[in-house]
Amino acid sequence: MSRIAYVNGRYLRHDEASVHVEDRGYQFSDGVYEVVGVRDGLLMDEDYHLQRLQRSLSELKIAMPVTMASLRQIIRHVVRRNTIRDGMVYLQITRGVSRRDHPFPNPPVKPSIVITAKRVNEARIRQIVRDGVSVITLPDQRWARRDIKSISLLPNILAKQAAREAGAYEAWLIDQNGMVTEGSSTNAWIVDAVGRLVTRSLGPEILSGVTRRVLLEAAQHEGLEVVERAFSRDEAHNAAEAFTTASTAIIVPVVKVDGHIIGTGKPGPLTIRLRGAYDAAAKTG
Ligand code: PDD
Repeated sequence: MSRIAYVNGRYLRHDEASVHVEDRGYQFSDGVYEVVGVRDGLLMDEDYHLQRLQRSLSELKIAMPVTMASLRQIIRHVVRRNTIRDGMVYLQITRGVSRRDHPFPNPPVKPSIVITAKRVNEARIRQIVRDGVSVITLPDQRWARRDIKSISLLPNILAKQAAREAGAYEAWLIDQNGMVTEGSSTNAWIVDAVGRLVTRSLGPEILSGVTRRVLLEAAQHEGLEVVERAFSRDEAHNAAEAFTTASTAIIVPVVKVDGHIIGTGKPGPLTIRLRGAYDAAAKTG
């Protein structure tokens, strides 16, 4: 069955779906995106993703091109038309199409919206969750508003590529004070020597991950101690456990940071327990 993409009001065959050459997303990265996980055909934590989407749009003064109710319907339609059971939805909104000029188009043009869906490689996810992954650390070279889920991801993809070339799954990014901000496409967590969960507090330095948010709720529900604070590269090297979170693979155990073995070199007990806690806390619909 051929894939279908939603582009500005139309459902198109994926191989024929395209946007205009003067789309400001294409020319300036002037837009935002969301990635929503799909499990058993249902959307995971959709409300939190749509809340974050609205915030990203309003921070950049881009209008929402469709109503929230239609957006929810379109997303579901794309999932169904692509017969996705376990996978992800990608949603991108840009400031629209206009003759290339740096200031916002005046009068404003209609923002462009694209929604696609794909399956994830479940066997690969099962394997990395079972075995854990290694990460490397690299300087964080991104802009100062990482709380906006902007489509401008050049430093992120360069960091991810460097990780892959080093045989690692992810790059954890380090700020000017030697502290971990987050991964190139994930939030970063450690468990400290006394069993506390540690992840960086929210602010312009990191993306407010939906998985991070749900996991904090789940950890609280479980009565676990969580500290939201920056942790250093050194602390990461010496952590009892470590893991990353993001919407597709949810919680991925980290067993090596810059070659330092974490814990026993296998996914830690708290990390494994948190995967179960997450499943119980996630809302699907
Ligand atoms: N990435 N930090 C960054 C920089 C991210 O790009 C992401 C998500 C996260 C985790 O956010 P969430 O839990 O809401 O997925 C943290 C998506 C999946 C991507 O770019 O594909």
